[in-house]
Amino acid sequence: MTAFVFNEINFDNHEQVVFASEAKSGLKAIIAVHNTNLGPAMGGCRMWNYATEAEAVRDVLRLSRGMTYKNAVAGLPIGGGKSVIIGNPKTDKTPALFEALGEALERLGGRYITAEDVGTSPADMANVASKTKYVAGLGDRGDPSPFTALGCFVGAQAAVKHKLGRDSLEGLVVALQGLGHVGYDYARRLKEAGAKLIVSDIDEGALKRAKEELGAEIVGTDAIYDVQADIYAPCALGATVNPDTLKRLKAKIIAGAANNQLSTPDMGIACREQGILYAPDFVINAGGIIKVCYEYMNTPEDGMDAHVRRIADTLTEVFQRADADNLPTSVVADQVAEARFRK
Ligand SMILES: NC(=O)c1ccc[n+]([C@@H]2O[C@H](COP(=O)([O-])OP(=O)(O)OC[C@H]3O[C@@H](n4cnc5c(N)ncnc54)[C@H](O)[C@@H]3O)[C@@H](O)[C@H]2O)c1
Repeated sequence: MTAFVFNEINFDNHEQVVFASEAKSGLKAIIAVHNTNLGPAMGGCRMWNYATEAEAVRDVLRLSRGMTYKNAVAGLPIGGGKSVIIGNPKTDKTPALFEALGEALERLGGRYITAEDVGTSPADMANVASKTKYVAGLGDRGDPSPFTALGCFVGAQAAVKHKLGRDSLEGLVVALQGLGHVGYDYARRLKEAGAKLIVSDIDEGALKRAKEELGAEIVGTDAIYDVQADIYAPCALGATVNPDTLKRLKAKIIAGAANNQLSTPDMGIACREQGILYAPDFVINAGGIIKVCYEYMNTPEDGMDAHVRRIADTLTEVFQRADADNLPTSVVADQVAEARFRK
């Protein structure tokens, strides 16, 4: 097991990986602290029915490392970490399970701060919070999604300026996948800026609302990759930029909220070769973590809007360096993050 962890590609010098268990509640959790050079590690707690423990280790290491890059590039005074609970979020949840996680976080003394993620809810986090103060985004001060949407919007503006040399989104067509918490708000901003929307979702209600309120054209979940558009905005699923979709996409810009948009790292190269400007996901979708961090650290929120808007400046820096060095934007975004968090 030890050899497996240290040799795992995403181990990448994790500072600390804790296997936390508690007999009474049945807790089996892994807490990964990748890097705390910029501050305590922050990242959500995922609950998932992993097929094997090795799969859970791989997932937590990958996600934790990703948080270091995301938090650093967002200019936040926090490092990267993540935790996973091994179990079925539909059948295995109890208050005691999350209280036991809270006790494990307390033992880490603030080196890692958790938050909700896939498979966990604000109610679960409230149970964690009964045992520790190292929990962020408890939901009492609002949903981070509108800030993620704002970051995507200013990111799309920066991409349009860089790729198309335009200051306005007026008349541009955006193919937007996923009208959820982030996607709908992003779509509303795009519409207000004069863009035309083509949207897909599996939720009929969201589609109806987008048609009625935003005048969006609706297409099927697979047809979204074939439409004539200037921007592709993935706001639902991961890995939608893959060899199949890249053959079909007409858009010259990819700017969306979804995590892990590239199916494999070499899709960043493929985008560049195809003349598509890819706004790296962890740069453009950082508005939500900025909001959560301000809230947790009790930072006065008057500077928060400007902080989220600086995502546009970071992206412009990434785009310009990618052109100067003939590198994929995904690689340059990693370099920008590393320059900030590596001592
Ligand atoms: N909420 C945030 O602040 C935040 C922050 C960073 C990243 N993200 C990422 O952005 C994405 C959207 O987050 P969200 O909070 O809006 O989630 P959400 O669950 O509210 O919305 C997702 C939407 O996608 C739709 N959808 C699901 N499958 C689809 C498919 N095959 N085709 C088209 N639509 C489909 C759902 O019906 C839903 O409307 C996720 O990938 C999430 O990880 C969110």
